[in-house]
Amino acid sequence: MDAANAVIARQAGSVNDLAALAAADMAGVDALIISRMQSPVSVIPALADHIIEAGGKRLRPLLTVVAARLAGARDDTALKLAAAVEFIHTATLLHDDVVDGSDLRRGKVAAHLIWGAPSSVLVGDFLFARAFELMVETGSMRAMEILARAARVIAEGEVLQLSRAHDVNLSQDTYLEIISAKTAELFAAAAEAGAVAAGGGAAQSSALRSYGFNLGLAFQLSDDALDYGGATETLGKNAGDDFREGKATLPLLLAIARTGPKERDFWDRVIGRQDQGEGDFRRARELIVGAGALEAALDLAGDYADRAKAALALFPVSALREGLEALADFAVSRRA
Ligand code: IPE
Ligand code: IPE
Ligand code: MG
Ligand code: MG
Repeated sequence: MDAANAVIARQAGSVNDLAALAAADMAGVDALIISRMQSPVSVIPALADHIIEAGGKRLRPLLTVVAARLAGARDDTALKLAAAVEFIHTATLLHDDVVDGSDLRRGKVAAHLIWGAPSSVLVGDFLFARAFELMVETGSMRAMEILARAARVIAEGEVLQLSRAHDVNLSQDTYLEIISAKTAELFAAAAEAGAVAAGGGAAQSSALRSYGFNLGLAFQLSDDALDYGGATETLGKNAGDDFREGKATLPLLLAIARTGPKERDFWDRVIGRQDQGEGDFRRARELIVGAGALEAALDLAGDYADRAKAALALFPVSALREGLEALADFAVSRRA
């Protein structure tokens, strides 16, 4: 095993420890997810089961239950919020794969290719509605406020991103605004809502919110690097989707800036005009790698992971806190 893989294995070990510590809570979350995805309208459980049974990392609900335990939870209120968080996430994935025209999700054919885009969108709406029912059951106005806001901000992020696709001049600030909204906000809300459900104080809730937000940024930056540097088999979704959609992610934006006027025509054609042919993805990937753009994006992801870890300083050292620290490193080094 080379040094890099040894580091990843060690981090994975600690992330597995975290998963083990949270296993009972997560089993409860899974049971809630299964029972609440049911409906007498048979297409709904069939389609929902297709994407939910495929697994996924369940990172966001893990954040909710771990944040609740860190904040001293004494009951299971957070489990309902965790299930709500995973439903919101799953709904956005169903919608996102229609919007992005993606064929593969969690290693399986995307739901819209089996049931059609209309069913995928509507079952996404059903899952959103289930998330709101679960939140209401907790009776926590504050948790509802946090998760309702997240659902709204994600939609804003997805629409902002759509409106700026093919923009080879997108600024890094706007890119960060997009990933803050579409991804980091739900990580932040997942952690904050867990703390709130546990009756944690303002300092604890805002520390966990900050942890989640920075983790989410690190996670999406690494996701955007994996689209060029990762493998479809481990990702469970097609590498190169961002390129084919003309999505202005940081690796691409950095490569455009760093390759300068020499490659301007290439980028204008393949991203600006979305005129792509055989070999263009390979060429783009070579330019991106050659420009050091993947390393730069992952360095920035590492900075946000460090900020996430720093946000946990007010909690005494514990296995849970160490697990969250390892999770921040995993978000950057992951391959799946
Ligand atoms: C996918 O999220 C969407 C992004 C924010 C990149 P995950 O990678 O957490 O998806 P699953 O739930 O594990 O499939
Ligand atoms: C996923 O975004 C959906 C949200 C974050 C709302 P992406 O389109 O960037 O992620 P993948 O690659 O499809 O998982
Ligand atoms: Mg997508
Ligand atoms: Mg998308």
